[in-house]
Amino acid sequence: MNQKALILQPKQTNETLNPMAGTRTFTMIKPDAFEAGNAGAILKMIEAAGFKIVALKATRLSPALAGKFYEVHSERPFYKDLCNYMSSGAIIAAILEKENAVEDFRTLIGATNPANAAEGTIRKIFAKSIEANAVHGSDSDENAAIEGSFFFNQYERVL
Ligand code: CMP
Repeated sequence: MNQKALILQPKQTNETLNPMAGTRTFTMIKPDAFEAGNAGAILKMIEAAGFKIVALKATRLSPALAGKFYEVHSERPFYKDLCNYMSSGAIIAAILEKENAVEDFRTLIGATNPANAAEGTIRKIFAKSIEANAVHGSDSDENAAIEGSFFFNQYERVL
């Protein structure tokens, strides 16, 4: 294909590549769940609930990166502890796809405080406390896109 033909290619979007694609959300499996060896079981629950994994990596956040990721909570009393905790060990970051992804994922993981999480939810099963609550889930489509891009470039995700 010559350069001119390349330039004339229509822009490929999520919709042109896969018209059946759902919406996306972002998740982290947090240090408590990773350290306890629960990452595989949590990913299994996520897939069993109908989410498709479209990006995945194991990594570790520095305190500065954790601070940037959770910047929206910078005025909250738990912010410093949260950043220390989120940089205390390895995590898994993932982008997930499903119809109604953000809302359905928040239902699957349960309330932020595991004491209030419904039976059968990921946090009810695996979380240790409100801080070490096993998983993160985006709270809106807009934040899902921002958070996914925080960890993954365009070559690290299924288009
Ligand atoms: P997450 O869904 O990752 O979003 C922000 C995180 O802050 C939350 O999960 C908890 O881990 C943490 N968090 C929220 N509220 C509190 C709180 N009251 N005390 C300590 N940590 C909290």
